Amino acid sequence: MAARIQLDSTHLKPFLNDDELTMLAPLAELADKQLLQGHEGAGSDYHGWITLPRDYDKEEFARIQSTAQRLREAIDVLVVIGIGGSYLGTRAAIHALSDSFGDSLTKAQRGGAPLIVYAGTQISTRYHAQLLKFLEDKRFAVNVISKSGTTTEPALAFRLLRKELERRHGAEDAKPFIVATTDGQRGKLFELANEKGYEKFVVPDDVGGRYSVITAVGLLPLAVSGIDIAELMAGAEEARQHADAPFGQNAILQYACTRHALYQKGKVIELLVNFDPRFQYVAEWWKQLFGESEGKDHKALYPASAQFTTDLHSLGQYIQDGRRHLFETVLLETGSAEEITVETVEGDPDGLNYLAGKNMAFVNEKAAEGTLAAHEDGGIPSIILNMPPLNAKTLGYLFYFFMRACGVSAYLLGVNPFDQPGVEAYKSNMFRLLGKPGA
Ligand code: PA5
Repeated sequence: MAARIQLDSTHLKPFLNDDELTMLAPLAELADKQLLQGHEGAGSDYHGWITLPRDYDKEEFARIQSTAQRLREAIDVLVVIGIGGSYLGTRAAIHALSDSFGDSLTKAQRGGAPLIVYAGTQISTRYHAQLLKFLEDKRFAVNVISKSGTTTEPALAFRLLRKELERRHGAEDAKPFIVATTDGQRGKLFELANEKGYEKFVVPDDVGGRYSVITAVGLLPLAVSGIDIAELMAGAEEARQHADAPFGQNAILQYACTRHALYQKGKVIELLVNFDPRFQYVAEWWKQLFGESEGKDHKALYPASAQFTTDLHSLGQYIQDGRRHLFETVLLETGSAEEITVETVEGDPDGLNYLAGKNMAFVNEKAAEGTLAAHEDGGIPSIILNMPPLNAKTLGYLFYFFMRACGVSAYLLGVNPFDQPGVEAYKSNMFRLLGKPGA
């Protein structure tokens, strides 16, 4: 089944005219060409992800699958240690594609998948103490992921969990329970993994953290959780092929131009909206992708998110009636694998019999239609991205769709999408306050 995403501009009409987009189209095409030509465009050393869905290392891919299988058999819990781009794609995919109540099921009920939990995503003492307690009676392994190999949060968590594994198994026998995903040649984690003999996977030199979900960074933990990573890559490859289409059929370029045109008209917040909680962490991944790629030189849209209909009962009032400085990008799944039909109840005690015979997806669809019309009336433009039902393939497509659109968007804005100089500011203060040598 094709995974294509299509952009629907129905709710943009009062806010943008066709000329405004047509004028941007050649600029977007040029930006995309710069991405493709490798040596052009800011940050061109980091263009490796663009062709990765086609050119990925098939031998490493096979090794990812066999390591995942080994871990699935040996453990109950996989602790993914990483921060930012080193874990958000993983968390997005696992949350999106796993059973909503999977954490409460047994390993057998999850089809043999270990539970995936996260560490090093912050420095909370309570969280890490509770994690150690939670792991006390469980067989666990860690996949420590850090491209630089020096990031404080994951390094601290890894130190804690490594000690626990070595306490249980002894230094030598702990090794099979530790897998490192890091730079292929340098960095503290690379050196430590070499010295101790841990199994290693590589974050390619030319792929930055937030573009790395389709490398071993995302693929190993996804495979451990039972996600079909070949399908994920096939979806990303389909998006890569569609990305070459002319502007009129190219939803990636259309999306990049539309958000840029809205930004130029004073909309400074982009709200990624969904109608299914399975997209919760896709939104977190997307926020990092766009926030860290574009938020430079005092420019860029602020990426935020909302989950509907839940947030219509919290943020809904502001969106409908508050300051008019935002627009929505709405992820709409067309069709659903499951069906729940509303039944007639004698006496209609809750007044819902008018829905009898309709399925829940239909109710959600009407909620979406009603919401978008109301927001348009309230002065909020919405870009609709229609996608087929969520699965590994369509998610792979979605990841690539947004990464490519982000590269184009950042070039339209005139910033380098592949660096993050602003992230250093908190680190250098923290290191100085902690008394790190040389800080
Ligand atoms: O996107 C990025 O480059 C960042 O968010 C990094 O992924 C994050 O800072 C973690 O870096 P590292 O993988 O080097 O530990």
